[in-house]
Amino acid sequence: MIRGMMENHLKIPQNLPKPLINFALGDPLKVNGFEPPKIIAEKLVQIVMEQKNNGYTSAAGSQEARQSVVDHFSTPDHPFKWEDVIMTFGAAGGLYNSISALCEKGDNLLVPRPGYPLCFPISQNLGVELRHYDLLPEKNWEIDLVHLKSLVNEKTRAILVNNPSNPCGTCFTKQHCLDIISMANELQLPIISDEVYYGITYEEGVEFTSLGVLTKEVPIICLNSISKMYYLPGYRCGWMIFYNHQGYFDKVINNLCNHAAIQFHPDSTVQKVLPVIFKETDDSHFATMKLKLKQSADYAFTQVSKIKGLNPIKPSAAMYMMINIRIEQFNGIEDDVDFAKKLLHEQGALVMPAHCFFYNNGFRLVLCQSLSNIKEFCLRLEEFCQNHYKRE
Ligand SMILES: Cc1ncc(COP(=O)(O)O)c(C=O)c1O
Repeated sequence: MIRGMMENHLKIPQNLPKPLINFALGDPLKVNGFEPPKIIAEKLVQIVMEQKNNGYTSAAGSQEARQSVVDHFSTPDHPFKWEDVIMTFGAAGGLYNSISALCEKGDNLLVPRPGYPLCFPISQNLGVELRHYDLLPEKNWEIDLVHLKSLVNEKTRAILVNNPSNPCGTCFTKQHCLDIISMANELQLPIISDEVYYGITYEEGVEFTSLGVLTKEVPIICLNSISKMYYLPGYRCGWMIFYNHQGYFDKVINNLCNHAAIQFHPDSTVQKVLPVIFKETDDSHFATMKLKLKQSADYAFTQVSKIKGLNPIKPSAAMYMMINIRIEQFNGIEDDVDFAKKLLHEQGALVMPAHCFFYNNGFRLVLCQSLSNIKEFCLRLEEFCQNHYKRE
């Protein structure tokens, strides 16, 4: 949906009035101050030069890479084995695998609104219906569990949860995670938990807890990758962890190993480097990441809060902030897509409207940007809003 939006409504015009500021993708890049740990590149070069890891790995990924996921994430209370891990082509690959393994054509899947849009093309491909449950902005984007429950029917196969959230930039409390699990238990549905931003919280008192370590009853598939935590989205290295309670996924895991035989997993060199990524990334990498995101978030939240017609929801996690637009307070702006289009044409600033996330009248601000870009963006946004704000 994001790429579709960029090809249609938000095509970048040739003669922009100002140099482009591109906040379209949540792509942590060195040019914006998000530099991957050097040790990873060094080790990768060494592995390539040794030429010992250029063969195929097993369909579900190499045992070594799968074991490294166990070593990093398994806990004494919620243990899992390397056989419960499948390597995937980024978390996106895990999303595709999970949906295709749990749902058949005509089934439905519960997904968040606002939410990360990739489940839309996946479900279209598979003939699966998406049913959108609401997140509540006034409750820090917690799930409206009453609404979620009202969407379930006999064709519902799973609940997709994304925590920390793209596009909301918030993280559920442990209590809310327990409430989600209790609802899944009541509904007798498994959870697909997209935790690709698993360690990225930056406000005091806000801590991420994986759904996988909160239940011994509800079957959960946790999806993850090195894309965001280590700033390596192009490496396409992710994994699925099956918390196979009640043996719910027995059939699914077998099916998925067959599915993975289509070689949708990351390449063998990246799998080889995964244990090093987990073991040798210095803690300072995460500390710096959190500091930078907090600086961007604090600055943007303070500035955008002052702009008439906008209402930002304070972020504390992942790499985003959602900003609601009071469309009726602006002249000549139809909706959030129109807002983003005019912001691009008049100010050279590209953001993704809420429409891309199944929501409306808002837009997503990407925070994995340099502070100077964020500052420039806020200035342009203010000028744009002043120009369009209805006179009182
Ligand atoms: C919520 C969410 N899930 C999954 C993905 C895909 O992650 P990956 O790049 O590891 O495939 C993203 C990427 O932005 C995301 O925001």
